[in-house]
Amino acid sequence: MNYATPTIELSNVSTRFGQLEVHRGINFTLKPGEVTTLLGPSGSGKTIILKLIMGLLAPTAGAVKVLGRDITALDETELRQTRVDIGMLFQGAALFDSLSVFENVAYGLRERGERDEEKIRAIVHERLGMVGLNGIDRKLPAQLSGGQRKRVGLARALASSPKIMLYDEPTTGLDPTSTRKIDDLIIKFSRERGITSLVVTHDIQSARRVSDRWMLLSRGVIVADGPVDEVSRASKQVAEFVSGEWKDEV
Ligand SMILES: Nc1ncnc2c1ncn2[C@@H]1O[C@H](COP(=O)(O)OP(=O)(O)OP(=O)(O)O)[C@@H](O)[C@H]1O
Ligand SMILES: [Mg+2]
Repeated sequence: MNYATPTIELSNVSTRFGQLEVHRGINFTLKPGEVTTLLGPSGSGKTIILKLIMGLLAPTAGAVKVLGRDITALDETELRQTRVDIGMLFQGAALFDSLSVFENVAYGLRERGERDEEKIRAIVHERLGMVGLNGIDRKLPAQLSGGQRKRVGLARALASSPKIMLYDEPTTGLDPTSTRKIDDLIIKFSRERGITSLVVTHDIQSARRVSDRWMLLSRGVIVADGPVDEVSRASKQVAEFVSGEWKDEV
């Protein structure tokens, strides 16, 4: 990829479900290696943006480009190839409850057609090591704490060495120590591996810690976008949102 190519680019994206107009002309580009946090009230359409980028949903209008390719124009095979470059930590981690930690992390590799068990084992152990969870690979998700489950979700998302990571509320429901661990991993993946990251969170402290940039989504459009310090200072909406004083009915 050309370094100047935006990693993710949304142009005039509108998304509608029947009468419900979720997005009304969303525009943003994410540069390689950046950590951007998307803020916005519940129901404002944040998770939908991540799903559009994954190609799990198609916008009603506009273009969603991932690594220079408009994913709304790809067929299933091309879409699958593009998804290899994207890791997603779903809201609630979404592990397979009947599979061991090892098989959860190996899942994406097997899905991609990897059959070399030696290689799978090496990658799974390396990824679990990255998230600080060595030695729990035989456990089932039900035997883990919330923070551990999120970290297994991270290891799984990282298994295919993505260039892009999407995090949907990665620290919701975690204690401060577990939150800190997840935040540090998000920062580490970005700094050490140059992974472009888009984080959706309601946790303002985490959003401050991990982000280079904030975007605020409200009533279908991005109403503030820029470096964290700058938008915190310059945007009245961001200041009100962060302090809980902003009344925005969606
Ligand atoms: N598949 C769907 N069909 C119809 N409506 C949907 C669908 N998915 C989401 N919605 C609606 O779109 C709106 C935005 O949903 P979304 O999940 O993106 O919100 P969100 O900003 O992530 O909220 P939260 O912070 O609570 O997770 C909501 O009103 C939701 O009910
Ligand atoms: Mg959501």
